[in-house]
Amino acid sequence: MRIGGCDAIDMARQYGTPLYAYDEAGLRRTCREYLTAFRAAWPRAHVAYACKAFATTAMLRLASEEGLGIDAMSAGELALARRAGVPAADLTFHGVVKTGEELEQAVAGGVGYVVIDSAEEVADLIRVAARLGRRQPVLLRVNPAVAVTTDPRYRTGDRDSKFGLCIADGSARRAAAQALAAEQLRLDGVHFHLGSQLTSAQPYAEAMTAVARLLAEIPGWRPSRVVVGGGMGVRYGDNGPAVPTPQRWATSIAGAFRQRLASHCADDVILGIEPGRSVVAEHGSTLYTVGTVKPSQERPGVIILVTDGGLSDNPRPLMYSAVHDVVAAADPLEAGGYVADIYGRHCETDLLFAGVRLPRIGRGDILVVRTTGAYTYCMASNYNRFPRAAVVFARDGMSRLVVRRETTADLLATELE
Ligand code: LLP
Repeated sequence: MRIGGCDAIDMARQYGTPLYAYDEAGLRRTCREYLTAFRAAWPRAHVAYACKAFATTAMLRLASEEGLGIDAMSAGELALARRAGVPAADLTFHGVVKTGEELEQAVAGGVGYVVIDSAEEVADLIRVAARLGRRQPVLLRVNPAVAVTTDPRYRTGDRDSKFGLCIADGSARRAAAQALAAEQLRLDGVHFHLGSQLTSAQPYAEAMTAVARLLAEIPGWRPSRVVVGGGMGVRYGDNGPAVPTPQRWATSIAGAFRQRLASHCADDVILGIEPGRSVVAEHGSTLYTVGTVKPSQERPGVIILVTDGGLSDNPRPLMYSAVHDVVAAADPLEAGGYVADIYGRHCETDLLFAGVRLPRIGRGDILVVRTTGAYTYCMASNYNRFPRAAVVFARDGMSRLVVRRETTADLLATELE
């Protein structure tokens, strides 16, 4: 199996496992596809990469080089972006609860936008901007109360969501009035994000209708920016549901915007999106070494296979019942005659993938779990005090380490006793 033109087994030998391996050309291609498609559908389109999906300096630099802005949601993500050389003006700062310190850093650092998520935050931000003598451009994150058909764990814009300012109860209207009146803030527009792993543009259209109703209640204000969040779904595994391409997302989202919302906005309104998962997921794979193979006692013919990683490098199977395709690196096209239940090596019954068909496989062989580019490395933990795995970018047959593997010394570095 090759990733970015590099042999997966060679990379596993060179860098060790577990290993996150990315196809760099694929990452660049998808960034470009999003930008080209949205600009074709709405000439004043802005695409930001939601870096929570996979935040490393190399990825942020890549996205920025390809012309995307960066959506960050913590001081840590902002610091990574700064180190990656992303211009401050290209940064949008999100978060349902931002600390005073984070707001100070964001405003002092000159981020392009702070997205206000609550009534409390309007007041917080006015204070911070006043102290720093700045006028901060802001967007208002609204909750349009649209229930999307995705796993409830991925929903962020339904009626009782913790995110954003509710349109229905007047909170969004009041916050907008307060922000418009504050000389320390420049309220440019509205933001919403409905959820993740969406497969249709219909919810975006419904949310736009809700935003149009809100704007009708705020006479004299015509936003110059509307950001519809991320959420564009990914096809996990050959049997997963099909998902729209960036081109399809662009035509349907821009079409709905033209129909439902654009006439309430400024003539030169910018339409923004901030995809995360769909930029990176399919271009990343995780490489594991098989540690042990045991025959199932209950199900003759089934093997219990334990890898050298698991819950700490990919919590998604346990958190979201996520499914990923798994292949043997030596023989990726061969489904094979073995049926394996694949576990991680944690002190947990951490079944990662059940009933996977594999060719003959044993200790030391390399497994490749596909479509793990999003929400894996960035959600990794040190559970059982395992060091976090390394990240490699591969392109045209050359690979480079972009994040080194943690060491035991890294794990001890914060211990004070
Ligand atoms: N913008 C905002 C404000 C968000 O909250 C998110 C994701 C995105 C953009 C990017 O959404 P995407 O295009 O990646 O769907 N940990 C979960 C996913 C949580 C997504 C949270 N917000 C997972 O492993 O599937």
